[in-house]
Amino acid sequence: MVKRIEFTEYGGPEVLSFCEYTPAPLGPDEIRIENYAIGVNYIDTYVRNGLYPTAQFPSGLGTEAAGVVVKTGAHVLGFNPGDRVVYAQSPLGAYSEIHQVDQHAVAHLPDHISFEQAAASFLKGMTVYYLLNQTYAIKQDEIFLFHAAAGGVGLIACQWAKALGAKMIGTAGSAEKVQRAKAAGAWEVIDYQKENIPQRVFELTQGAKVNVVYDSVGQATWLDSLECLNQRGLMVSFGNASGPVTGVDLGILNKKGSLYVTRPSLSGYVTNREQLNQASRALFDMISSGHINVDVPERQKFALKDAASAHRLLEQRQTQGACLLIP
Ligand SMILES: NC(=O)c1ccc[n+]([C@@H]2O[C@H](COP(=O)([O-])OP(=O)(O)OC[C@H]3O[C@@H](n4cnc5c(N)ncnc54)[C@H](OP(=O)(O)O)[C@@H]3O)[C@@H](O)[C@H]2O)c1
Repeated sequence: MVKRIEFTEYGGPEVLSFCEYTPAPLGPDEIRIENYAIGVNYIDTYVRNGLYPTAQFPSGLGTEAAGVVVKTGAHVLGFNPGDRVVYAQSPLGAYSEIHQVDQHAVAHLPDHISFEQAAASFLKGMTVYYLLNQTYAIKQDEIFLFHAAAGGVGLIACQWAKALGAKMIGTAGSAEKVQRAKAAGAWEVIDYQKENIPQRVFELTQGAKVNVVYDSVGQATWLDSLECLNQRGLMVSFGNASGPVTGVDLGILNKKGSLYVTRPSLSGYVTNREQLNQASRALFDMISSGHINVDVPERQKFALKDAASAHRLLEQRQTQGACLLIP
């Protein structure tokens, strides 16, 4: 018997309960991992509240953690009990003391990266990797817009952009968050609770606007984001923190300047071992070289049983950087 977070219906943070649970027998391609630090991601709230209705009840929650291999299935190659590992794309159930994950979703963790650093950055950092390098390749000196710059994904994006020598314009929802994003490496940060986003982008770019906008806020920023793009610019809509973008009249892309739109996800970019190795190596190199710091403040580390509190803090926009659950 192990302890994990479970839910049996979609709803607010109150549907999460801390339960005893018996893991299924280990599959031949699976690795049993004792989790030492668990990543909390905004997507976990979409799964919990039913925006992404992927749960089969009773269901576990979460897809990311770092820990130590306890046991390997008969067909597993290259992993042994005692190995330090991290994963970001497991089946639902990472909010648990123990989780079982397909070997192709598991990466070895370099010695100098702690379990907490890994769980705080694996999903979010590989996301920033594909967004800034593959969805659109950000060039040195390029100015671009990235929303929610003081969030978990956002703070990594600030630092990655700086490492690329690019000029990231971030947005953030308070004066304190603006300072945090700037300190992390954003070139400029717009307080979107107070300032007009398109107007500020117009000023900062001297009327040129930007070639690419990365928007994980969704509904609330959709129109402003399109307004910030220059002719044939690319709108990367990669999240729904304020609600999903729905019912789009494609004519708006024509009206705003023959724009492109993409709605990417990590699961569309990291689909096999080779892609996992490439993205994780790029992230680990950024952390090892000191370009990216992913340390989590104590107030954003929660006991596993307190997952609901972590969700509340995240959804109330009270966090900067990542949140962790510690079993
Ligand atoms: N597609 C992908 O591959 C992928 C992968 C990872 C994450 N994501 C997306 O990236 C985003 C960031 O994820 P994260 O885990 O790092 O979360 P996060 O950025 O730490 O938290 C979400 C942030 O969104 C901002 N926000 C704006 N409007 C909001 C609203 N109405 N309600 C709540 N928050 C609002 C808040 O920052 P301010 O207070 O500064 O506005 C909040 O802190 C999420 O939308 C997530 O779904 C997508």
